[in-house]
Amino acid sequence: MNGAGDAVAMDAEYLGKTVAPAVGRGLPRVFAVANQKGGVGKTTTTVNLGAALADLGHRVLVVDLDPQGNATTGLGIDARNFDASVYDVLLHDVALEDCIEPTTIKNLFVAPATIDLAGAEIELVPAFSRELRLRRAIDAIRDDFAYVLIDCPPSLGLITVNGLAAAGEVLVPIQCEYYALEGLGQLLRNVELVRSNLNTELVVTTIVLTMYDARTNLAEQVVSEVRQHFGPAVCQTIIPRSVRISEAPSFGEPVTVHDPSSRGAIAYRSLAKEVASASA
Ligand SMILES: Nc1ncnc2c1ncn2[C@@H]1O[C@H](COP(=O)(O)OP(=O)(O)OP(=O)(O)O)[C@@H](O)[C@H]1O
Ligand SMILES: [Mg+2]
Repeated sequence: MNGAGDAVAMDAEYLGKTVAPAVGRGLPRVFAVANQKGGVGKTTTTVNLGAALADLGHRVLVVDLDPQGNATTGLGIDARNFDASVYDVLLHDVALEDCIEPTTIKNLFVAPATIDLAGAEIELVPAFSRELRLRRAIDAIRDDFAYVLIDCPPSLGLITVNGLAAAGEVLVPIQCEYYALEGLGQLLRNVELVRSNLNTELVVTTIVLTMYDARTNLAEQVVSEVRQHFGPAVCQTIIPRSVRISEAPSFGEPVTVHDPSSRGAIAYRSLAKEVASASA
């Protein structure tokens, strides 16, 4: 079901190099949060996992790599209030350090995106070392943060390739809905292409099931199917579907601030502990 065929079609050995659970990973850890399928919870997971890791006392940087700028606004940053953005980092050699903004949450910082970034997909095409621009920018600030979370757009274009090339790990949110696994094979093949051509370290270590609705049999089926295919790379913590999570961005807050005792906040805090427990 769910178009799983294309993910399963990869042989076990191939899959084993591309997908493996995080164990004893040294800090800093840089995650590309990626899935070319739209609306699966990439931004929500970036913002809330970032906030929950910051609450654990880690310095966290969220890099907004999506022209929609949802991670930026979801963290309460107003596009009118900053001079430089990730677009300038990718296209105009502005240092990442010069575009990083603090958030209202201690230890949590964001490199913001604006709609300008939509042009980068095309403008990067003729650029020198176009795939490695973000990697170089992150290299310069790597030691200032324990966790860097890169919120990728819903595509597999050059912007996402920059995210994958800059990361050590890929975090893939999967929505517990019909067609959940559709396109995952394509994502994994792209990860593999980036790994063999640009970034030998890259591994999908963290698969997060999101928008789980306990009232449906389908959600339970998706969970067991994803666990069957990807085994220990799938996080134990499952993020429930929750109105609190979906309304928090309109307040410019992660759910952990918006409603700290809600199920969504509890789930993202539990995910943060689980992710951090794999750090050396
Ligand atoms: N656990 C959840 N419960 C309820 N709503 C959620 C949950 N996670 C995400 N949403 C909502 O679903 C929508 C899509 O989520 P999100 O923006 O995080 O996905 P995305 O993968 O980043 O989307 P895009 O591909 O457009 O970047 C948003 O309106 C968000 O508020
Ligand atoms: Mg998004």
